[in-house]
Amino acid sequence: MLSWEDESRAPNPPTPPRAAARPMGAAAAVPPAPLASALEGGLERRVNAADKRIINGTTDVNQLVPFKYKWAWEKYLAGCANHWMPQEINMSRDIALWKNPHGLTEDERRVVRRNLGFFVTADSLAANNIVLGTYRHITAPECRQYLLRQAFEEAIHTHAYQYIVESLALDEGEVFNAYHEIASIRAKDEFLIPFIDTLTDPQFKTGTPEDDQKLLKSLIVFSCLMEGLFFYVGFVQILALGRQNKMTGAAEQYQYILRDESMHCSFGIDLVNTIKLENPHLWTAEFRDEIRALFRKGVDLEYAYAEDTMPRGVLGLNAPMFKGYLRFIANRRCQQIGIDPLFGQEENPFPWMSEMIDLKKERNFFETRVIEYQTGGALSWE
Ligand SMILES: [Fe+2]
Ligand SMILES: [Fe+2]
Repeated sequence: MLSWEDESRAPNPPTPPRAAARPMGAAAAVPPAPLASALEGGLERRVNAADKRIINGTTDVNQLVPFKYKWAWEKYLAGCANHWMPQEINMSRDIALWKNPHGLTEDERRVVRRNLGFFVTADSLAANNIVLGTYRHITAPECRQYLLRQAFEEAIHTHAYQYIVESLALDEGEVFNAYHEIASIRAKDEFLIPFIDTLTDPQFKTGTPEDDQKLLKSLIVFSCLMEGLFFYVGFVQILALGRQNKMTGAAEQYQYILRDESMHCSFGIDLVNTIKLENPHLWTAEFRDEIRALFRKGVDLEYAYAEDTMPRGVLGLNAPMFKGYLRFIANRRCQQIGIDPLFGQEENPFPWMSEMIDLKKERNFFETRVIEYQTGGALSWE
């Protein structure tokens, strides 16, 4: 067990000032970060914004300005303005409903359990992907700044799911192990893990067209498929419960998470498109075909998850409605990164979802209360 005394007796070795981008045990494998050479005098001139690059850049990553990627900085500011914490949301109505044997149907309870079964570990995977992977391969400090904010938001999301599990007194072992034990959840994670492993592998570095394509592929899978598709069946389900005045505390948390995730997805898409612009040789026809195949696989996996969570119609939803919805989203993601749509014209069967994404902080759909963080004047040291 840790105590302050233990810590004072056995301090950690001092962190070298230039180890920021270097995972433990990988000193020789990781390319020298621009940070390291900057401190050693390798980069003596001041940063010129025009020289910055999203990947394989050689400018000093410690100098946030001059800005080149203003969109990344603006998203960082928007993320901060949307700050929220799970404990601000009142869960008492959810708890009473969950405890009431007639409060929810068995199918509704299954939706909640399966839903949390996916999400409680998904955001840890997302956080690992950012902190142990993506961050060290990105050489634009504006983008790194956003990734730091995003990493904290993933921690808030894991906290939110844990808070719901704890509030409802669900079986933690069952919920947190669902990604091992429930086939439809496991299949989604097994699809994602090789792409996360690519970025978190200490031996992996960018710098060749082949490796840069690997990075780009992992970024696309993460933003367009994980954050941009795999979360959406789950979001619709819990928000549909909230729209029927059930589990309104959980629904409100999901609403804030959805807003954060749509920003993550949008940042990831901007990142991908900027890497494409800076490195057009990576965007080959063969590469685009690979991405299209991954999108098809992603849609199939998410549809299998929809069927598993809703073996019968529930909450006015059923699995076939999600087939259209997932195709609609997949087409949109393709379009956002400049790939031809995979499916014919698809309509959005849940137009109310866009209202949920555009939520303004002052307003909420489920009558709970969230502190307004944007009004900085409310803070005082007195
Ligand atoms: Fe998240
Ligand atoms: Fe995310």
